[in-house]
Amino acid sequence: MLRLSGFTGFASAINNALEDDSTPPPLFVFDFDRTLTNGMSRPGEEKDLRKVSALSPFFERGTPKELMVKDEQGNEIPLARGGSVFAADYQKAAALAQIIREQKQRSLRVFFFDDAIVNAHVVATSTKLHLNMSAPCPDVELISYWWDTFEEETGPTPSMKPSHTATTDSNYADFAKPMLADFGVTSEEVDARIEAYRAINMGTRSRRKAGEPVGGEELSKVQAAGKDMRAKMAPLAATLGARFARGPRPPPVLPNSSYNAFKTGKKLHNAELSEIRDAKKKGGGVKSIGGGLEGLLAARGLPRGLPRPAPPPASDWRAKAAKEKARADVAKKLFENKGVASLPPGDLENPRWETAFQVESPDEGSTGGLAFVATLAGAFAIKSANDMAEEYVGTKFLEAAWVPVPKMRVVFVGEEEHGLILQSVEEVAKQYSRRGDAEGAGRVMLHALTAMKKFDGPLILMELVECAFSLNELGRGGGAESVLEPGRGGRMARSRLDAIGRVWVLDAVLNFRDRFCSRLSYARYDEAVVGAEGEGEGKEFLTGNCDNVLFSPVGAGFAAIDSHVKLIREGGGVGAKKVAEGNNSELIERLHRELGRVLIEGTGCMEWLRFTVKVVGGWGLSDEALECVRVGAVRGMKAVQGAIEAVRVEIRKENGGDKWSKSMGRIDEEVLVEVGLVVGELVKEMTDDDGEVDEGEMLEGGEGEEEVVVEDSDVVESAKKIGANLRLWGALTSELRRVLVDERVKGVEAGEHSNGEFWGIR
Ligand SMILES: Nc1ncnc2c1ncn2[C@@H]1O[C@H](COP(=O)(O)OP(=O)(O)O)[C@@H](O)[C@H]1O
Ligand SMILES: [Mg+2]
Repeated sequence: MLRLSGFTGFASAINNALEDDSTPPPLFVFDFDRTLTNGMSRPGEEKDLRKVSALSPFFERGTPKELMVKDEQGNEIPLARGGSVFAADYQKAAALAQIIREQKQRSLRVFFFDDAIVNAHVVATSTKLHLNMSAPCPDVELISYWWDTFEEETGPTPSMKPSHTATTDSNYADFAKPMLADFGVTSEEVDARIEAYRAINMGTRSRRKAGEPVGGEELSKVQAAGKDMRAKMAPLAATLGARFARGPRPPPVLPNSSYNAFKTGKKLHNAELSEIRDAKKKGGGVKSIGGGLEGLLAARGLPRGLPRPAPPPASDWRAKAAKEKARADVAKKLFENKGVASLPPGDLENPRWETAFQVESPDEGSTGGLAFVATLAGAFAIKSANDMAEEYVGTKFLEAAWVPVPKMRVVFVGEEEHGLILQSVEEVAKQYSRRGDAEGAGRVMLHALTAMKKFDGPLILMELVECAFSLNELGRGGGAESVLEPGRGGRMARSRLDAIGRVWVLDAVLNFRDRFCSRLSYARYDEAVVGAEGEGEGKEFLTGNCDNVLFSPVGAGFAAIDSHVKLIREGGGVGAKKVAEGNNSELIERLHRELGRVLIEGTGCMEWLRFTVKVVGGWGLSDEALECVRVGAVRGMKAVQGAIEAVRVEIRKENGGDKWSKSMGRIDEEVLVEVGLVVGELVKEMTDDDGEVDEGEMLEGGEGEEEVVVEDSDVVESAKKIGANLRLWGALTSELRRVLVDERVKGVEAGEHSNGEFWGIR
C-alpha cells in the first residue's frame, strides 16, 4: 500500500506505472466518485455534486447488469456493472478480484486508487483472499494507493471541498487510525488534520498559507519534488489527457498514427524520466514524482505526433520548457479578456460552424454542458443536457407569452449540423494545440466536447444574450438602481420589471420553481422571510436562482434563460424526481390562491422581488417599480392561454425521432391545460382596471441599439478577405485577427504542435 498526496500525486503514480514497459501488463482500477471525478478540477474550482463527471464520460458504461460473487466465507456479495464501471459499495476487494479474474491473464500488475482510506486498506489487505477463492489464481502484483486528499483540500491551492470529519465515512473516524498508520500518517498528524478540517468547516481559518508546513516529512518531500517534476511530466500528462479525451476505446493497434504517437510519447517520457532519475541520484534527491491529473490539463506540450528527434540533453530541458511555455502564453493571450460571451451574437440561421475559432465552457451552471462558441459569423451558446425537451418547451412557452428569451433551435443527433458542430469544436481544440496551448485544447476537448457528446441527445443552439449580466450581478450593470428602478433606468428598467412579472406567473404555470423564490414557489415563504429578517442569516436561500435572469444593456434588456417545464407525468423518469415536489391538485390550488391575490392585493404581492433585489443588489425597489412588476404579472396571466396553445403544437411535432418524442411525451399536457383553465378563470375575474391592461407585446427595450460602426479600413479589408462578420471581426484583438488571417489564408505554420492528428479526428 502506498500513499499519494498533493496536486501532483495521482498522475505521478500512473506515470510511474506506465514508465515500465515490461510484463506483466498493468491494470488500472479507480474508485469512481471523488477519486476520478475530482481528478480534473483546478485549484479553486471546486466541484459540486452536480458537476461530478470530469472523467466519467470516458468510461464505457454499457447496460447495467447485476452479478453475485462469493467472499472467502462463502457469503454472497452483490455487484453491478455496466461496461467498465463497477458498483461495489464497500466491497471493493471483491469487485477488484472479479475485475482481475475477468482479464484472464496469468499475471498482472494491478494499480488501485481510492481516496477512502478504508477502501484502499481493504483492497491492499484482502484482495488476495478473494482471488485465492478461484482457480486458477492469477499471479498478481498489487499496489493499493490511498489518495490522501488533505493537501488538495486544505493546502494553499485547494482543488477540492474539504470533507467532513464527523461522518462514519470519514478517513479520520476513530476506527481508521490504524489504517492511517499503515499508510504512514501518525496519530499526532491525524489530530492536527482533524483540527485543520474543523477550522475550515467552521470558517475560523480559511486556508493554510502557502509554504506553511502541515507536518509530515514525506509531504514536504513530495512538494519539493513535485515542482520540477511537474514540468518534466507534462508531455506524458498531455499524452494521457489526449487519450482520455478520445474516449473509452483503447487505441487501435497498428497501423495507426495516433497509437504511434502515444507510444512515441511514452518512449520519450521514459527517456526523460530516466534523465530525471539520474539527475536526482546525483543530487541525492527524492524519489517521488509529480504531474497530477491536473497536469493532464496543465500540460504545456502536446503529444508529439510522429517520431521526433531524441530528447535534448539534460541541460537543455529547462530552456526548452521555458520556450514552450512562452509559446503557450502567446497562444492564450489571443483570447485574454475577450471571452466568447463578450463578442457580438451571431445569426442562429447561419452559424457557419466551419469557421469556429473559439470555444469556452462557462464555470457557472451545473447539470449539463453549456458551451460558448465563436465563429466568423458571431458568438453562440450551445447547451446539452438530459432534459432538453423540458428546457425547449419551457423557453418556447415564455417566448409565446412575450417574455424576451434567447432564440433557440434544436439540433438533433444524426442531422448533418450535429456532426458539424462537434467537428468544429474539435477543430478549435486542434487550433489551440497547434499554437502550443495544450491546456486550452484540453479544456475544449475535456469539457465542451465531452459535455456535448455525453448525453447522446440533441443540442440546443441558443442565441447569445449580448453583454449579459445576471440578477446576481447587478453591479455589472451599474447597480440595481440603474438596472431596475424606473426613475433611473427609464423605459429599459420598466420593460425589465414587466418581464420579471410575466416570468413570475409563467414559471408558476409551468411548475418551475427554480428561478424566483416567493409564495408561488415556496409554501412557507412568508414565515421564512420573517425568520431571516433579523439576523440576516439564510437570506440568500430565499432568493431563487438569480443566475437565470439575465439583463443586457441592449435589445430587450432582459432574457429569461434555463427555463423548464416541470409538469411531468408520473413515472416520467429523469426529470420526475425534481418535479414531484407537490402534486397537481396542490399546484392548482396554490396557483389559484396566489395569483388571485395579485388581483386583490396589487403590489403587495410583489414584495418578494423587493426582498430579492435587496438581498442580491442591496437596493429596495420603489412602489413604482413594483407596480410595473404587477402589471407584468397581469399581462403574463393574460398570455397564458395563447402560450399553452403554442407549446402544445411544439410538443406534438414529430421532428426529432423516437427519443425526442418520448421526452416530449413526458410533459403533462393535460395538467398544463388544467392549469391554463385556472388562470383563465382569474383573468375573467379581473376588475375593469386590469381588464384594460393589454396582453402586451414584448416591450421594446427603449433607447434603441446603437449601430456599431467599424471604420478602420484595415479591419474592413481583412474582414472581407476572410469572410467575417464585420462587427464580430472588429470586436477581436488585432493580434487574433492577424493570426486567424495568417492561419486561414497563408496556412498554419508547421511546428512541433502542428500535428493535430493525435486528436484522432476521422
Ligand atoms: N444564451 C446565453 N447568453 C449569455 N449567457 C448565457 C446564455 N445561456 C447561458 N448563459 C450563461 O451561462 C450560465 C449557465 O447557463 P444555464 O443555461 O443557466 O445552464 P445551467 O443549466 O448549467 O444553469 C448562465 O447563468 C449565464 O451566465
Ligand atoms: Mg442556470
